[in-house]
Amino acid sequence: MYKPLMELTPEQQDILSGKQGETKAKMMECLVRYGDIFHAKRLLPITHPEGHLVTSFGITMLKPIYPLMDELIKAGLKAPEGFTVDPRPIDYANVKCNPIEKLVFDKFMYSKQESYEKQLQAIGLKDTNGFTCTSYLPEIGNTPKEGDVLSWAESSAVVFANSVLGAHCNRNSGVLEMFGMLLGYAPEFGFLTAEGRKATWKVIVKTTTKPEAQILGSAVGMKVLTEVPYVEGLDQYLKPLPDEDTVAYLKDFGAATASNGAVGLYHIDKVTPEAKEQGEGLLKEGYKTYVIDDAEIERVYQSYPVMWKNPDKKAQKCFIGCPHLTLKQLVDWTDKLSAGLVASGLKKLTVDTVLTTSPQVAAEFKKTDGYQKLLATGAHLSYICPLMYTNNPVAGKKRIMTNSNKLRTYSFSRYYKDQEVLDILTGKEQA
Ligand code: F3S
Repeated sequence: MYKPLMELTPEQQDILSGKQGETKAKMMECLVRYGDIFHAKRLLPITHPEGHLVTSFGITMLKPIYPLMDELIKAGLKAPEGFTVDPRPIDYANVKCNPIEKLVFDKFMYSKQESYEKQLQAIGLKDTNGFTCTSYLPEIGNTPKEGDVLSWAESSAVVFANSVLGAHCNRNSGVLEMFGMLLGYAPEFGFLTAEGRKATWKVIVKTTTKPEAQILGSAVGMKVLTEVPYVEGLDQYLKPLPDEDTVAYLKDFGAATASNGAVGLYHIDKVTPEAKEQGEGLLKEGYKTYVIDDAEIERVYQSYPVMWKNPDKKAQKCFIGCPHLTLKQLVDWTDKLSAGLVASGLKKLTVDTVLTTSPQVAAEFKKTDGYQKLLATGAHLSYICPLMYTNNPVAGKKRIMTNSNKLRTYSFSRYYKDQEVLDILTGKEQA
């Protein structure tokens, strides 16, 4: 049996030694070994009862996961309070695919989707609508409290939970986060410690206008990589939390820091909970400084490579909503797209456009006139993860445009600022 370096409680020791079954023993060994690598002192109980899993797609080549799920089910393991999971990969009704794309998705990419979703339900998936990367938003309600200990892995959700909600969660990997959720423990290291939550970078925002969240996040992520930034100067552009625009801004900023770098926690001076409580006391001695002005934002933006084979040709598809849009963002985009078409005299958007959001936010939005207004522009509303549509040999070759820096980073999609997206889609400018 594995000899842990960390201290275990008698209950944890019993699990490891197999007193609660072989499956739990193997899961516990994985979790303990994971913690030992990072010199965790112990395992902390998870205090936010609902889980969130990153692996939402029944991708054919993830072969080991399906028998592993069967073993969990056979052992009777289930998340006590259920869990949500990242977005689904396919929505043929709203994200049109040609026959070749459908063949690739159904037979090669996501052939296990249906059976995998059944496996997820067997271990506690809350409901068939529990697929989103923004499970922490009020419409979904999987919202940890300040100080809660979590075992999540979705990078955009982890950074939001840590930074904006003040929860404690490491950037775990998929499957390990599921073991933590099912066992109810997380190894105490990194963001689960007070020391690990301190900032080693002071970022000073000196822009003359509110910087685009996705570019500011990208700049910070590429500079600080895995470290914790303390951002000053941004509070002048943000209303206090839980203002909806601030939530949306920090969601998009955080996802960019987490994907363009590997940030799992940031502090925004005078805005996020720990920064409000501790201020510059969160800065570690010897911290580094990064000043971001208008020129730096432009430099970062201009540094993005354009991966399209024919960069001069028009985009074939546009995705808005990675991470999934909040209700307010959906309303704002609808209003702007609609007004832009009126101004340009066009009837429909110039590019096949998909806005992505959680099933719950979509349901709320569909109750409003905004939904018909959005459809009238020719845009579609979907619950998918655009990356899962984009990241394959067929769809990936298309000229896809986006305002998401995460989608840009992980695919061949081309990034445009919000205003550029608006101008292109409404015919003011060509992509
Ligand atoms: Fe969410 Fe998929 Fe983007 S999980 S953050 S929509 S890559």
